[in-house]
Amino acid sequence: MLEIRDLVTEFDTPGGPLRANDGISFQLEAGSVLGVLGESGSGKSAMLRTILGIQPRSTRVFGQILLDGNDLLAMNAKQRRATRGRQIAMVFQDPLTALDPVYTVREQLVETIRVHDDPGTKLANARALELLELVQIPSAERRLDAYPFELSGGMRQRVVIAIALACRPKLLLADEPTTALDVTVQARVLELLGELRKELDMGVIFVTHDLAVAASVADRIAVMYAGRVVEFGTVDEIADAPAHPYTRGLIGANVEPGQTDRLVPIAGSPPNLANLPPGCAFALRCPEVTSSCWASRPELVTIGTSGRLARCIHVEATQ
Ligand SMILES: Nc1ncnc2c1ncn2[C@@H]1O[C@H](COP(=O)(O)OP(=O)(O)OP(=O)(O)O)[C@@H](O)[C@H]1O
Ligand SMILES: [Mg+2]
Repeated sequence: MLEIRDLVTEFDTPGGPLRANDGISFQLEAGSVLGVLGESGSGKSAMLRTILGIQPRSTRVFGQILLDGNDLLAMNAKQRRATRGRQIAMVFQDPLTALDPVYTVREQLVETIRVHDDPGTKLANARALELLELVQIPSAERRLDAYPFELSGGMRQRVVIAIALACRPKLLLADEPTTALDVTVQARVLELLGELRKELDMGVIFVTHDLAVAASVADRIAVMYAGRVVEFGTVDEIADAPAHPYTRGLIGANVEPGQTDRLVPIAGSPPNLANLPPGCAFALRCPEVTSSCWASRPELVTIGTSGRLARCIHVEATQ
């Protein structure tokens, strides 16, 4: 359903051009969830904003983003706008800022429903109620007329998801959608997302810092470092036998199974994306670094036959 080829997102910064995404490629099937895992600044949100098409005008974007075979990057502004909401929707991290405090839940849902093809007031209201029921909000009829501040954090995040689903998108981009919630509420929202993607046959890209969250919601995981995917595989492959030293570091930091703490950072800090070292971007922090790691930037190599990938010269490629 979604195929991303060699995606580059480049910003101009006072320190020079900065590539927040540098050659990202992956595929996503309808009804499946890709978990995107990585430290702060690895380019996760930048990638989602580029896919949605909401980067500042000066941003340079290269590559292809094929949605059902149509390249979003080849579309004009009007065509692109038409894909937002209807084909691609995004759930932002903070449910309070994502909702407008001066409008009721009903007003916000109805407005979103009427943006694309307006079914009329009565049908739009019926659809708003359906959406609240879809995201399992109890007493949905009554909650429709609540203001955001009258709802708990978990309820607000459900409303944000309901708004994102208003136009039945094919692709849902979720940027740390549960980080602001407490652990039990988070688990329920994750479960709900898992049910919805099956029910709506929707592809989901789910960004998180938290390996346990990624493992509970995703089918496949892409590990990002310094704007690139450094490892890609199924949840089991990544959790049981991480191939890249960076992934091993992330997993070593999450020792207890089921532990939902944020990842403990690996020693050192990520490099400045506007001024990357030659060779492997992780070399400076890598416990397994050798002199050849500095020579050139490593390519993604295929491991096994399941489409598993890793970007490290020490990983043995399958012929
Ligand atoms: N509009 C922009 N202009 C300039 N630089 C930007 C812009 N947006 C993002 N960046 C830079 O791109 C890099 C990646 O940022 P991004 O927000 O994608 O990180 P992230 O992986 O989502 O991190 P976090 O986990 O903290 O949300 C950072 O260095 C950031 O400063
Ligand atoms: Mg982010």
